[in-house]
Amino acid sequence: MQRKKIAVIGGGQIGSIIALMSTQKELGDVTVVDLPQNVNPVRGKTQDIDHLRPHIGVDVTLCATCDYEDISCADVVVVTAGVPRKPNMSREDLLDINLEIVKGVAEQIKCHCPDAFIIVATNPVDTMAYAFQKVSGLPRNQVVGLSGALDTGRFQHFIADETGLSVKDVSCMVMGGHGPTMMPLIRTATIAGIPITTLLNQEQIDNIVRRTREAGTEIVNLLGNGSAYFSSAASIMEMIEAYLGDKKRVISSSALCQGEYGIDGYYLGVPCVIGAGGLERILEIELTAEENAALQKTADAVVQSVRQTGL
Ligand code: APR
Repeated sequence: MQRKKIAVIGGGQIGSIIALMSTQKELGDVTVVDLPQNVNPVRGKTQDIDHLRPHIGVDVTLCATCDYEDISCADVVVVTAGVPRKPNMSREDLLDINLEIVKGVAEQIKCHCPDAFIIVATNPVDTMAYAFQKVSGLPRNQVVGLSGALDTGRFQHFIADETGLSVKDVSCMVMGGHGPTMMPLIRTATIAGIPITTLLNQEQIDNIVRRTREAGTEIVNLLGNGSAYFSSAASIMEMIEAYLGDKKRVISSSALCQGEYGIDGYYLGVPCVIGAGGLERILEIELTAEENAALQKTADAVVQSVRQTGL
């Protein structure tokens, strides 16, 4: 069987960790695309990863390039091209600069690998995924954004931390935009099927919600010169594996809503079934009046951001 082909656009922090993790999992051959002026350091990283293969006994190829011809047969494309936030910046502050980058990447992907499954990670992600889909014209099942997978991981972490129980037994989800209006869904969060509302008091729950929302910013402030990359890459890996393995996993992702949750024509974090068909389905769960109001608020924030793109 021919090996799968994973393309990563942008070989910075997230891109290089995806190259590493994909290799460790032997998911397929990895090609990283970056700008001509930055491709040599990226080439250094892919060669370094190539040289660790003997230590883990993995047979895949890795390369770095600035030529999109080299990813013409990609099965999956992860878009990390763009700039990350620095302290005192919101994800929205990246919009102008990253929009031009993502539009350019979308044109290239449309031309060179229009059949690939695309995962957009560049922020502000709901708007960047929207722009990518608009410019590329690819169907909605092929283009999703990294949001809920990362935010849900953080939500799981804080629940496990607060209860002192295993992260493995936490099941929960974050919906909405990938920003301060995101919605960690308390009502459906469980530990081994036990609602967390029966295990934690309101103050603890409020604390978990606040920390989930602020986790990305906390890391930006600590790093000083970029944003989270290990957990972002790990979240993207879950999405890649769900697609390549046709796992039908339910992963909250930024997806183009076409009437789901009353939202039409915008990307927003919703529960997505990811399998061989890419985004196979958006699951619509019944929300309470309070949750619906929160969803409206987060959707409004995304709509405002999208309007600034002029797309
Ligand atoms: N084409 C290809 N690569 C590009 C382009 C472009 N037009 N523009 C920038 N890049 C590359 C940069 O050269 C750099 O190698 O994208 C890479 C970005 O890497 P980092 O600056 O390390 O950023 P990273 O932490 O990986 O985050 C990337 O994902 O989560 C989001 O907010 C984050 O928008 C940011 C993106």
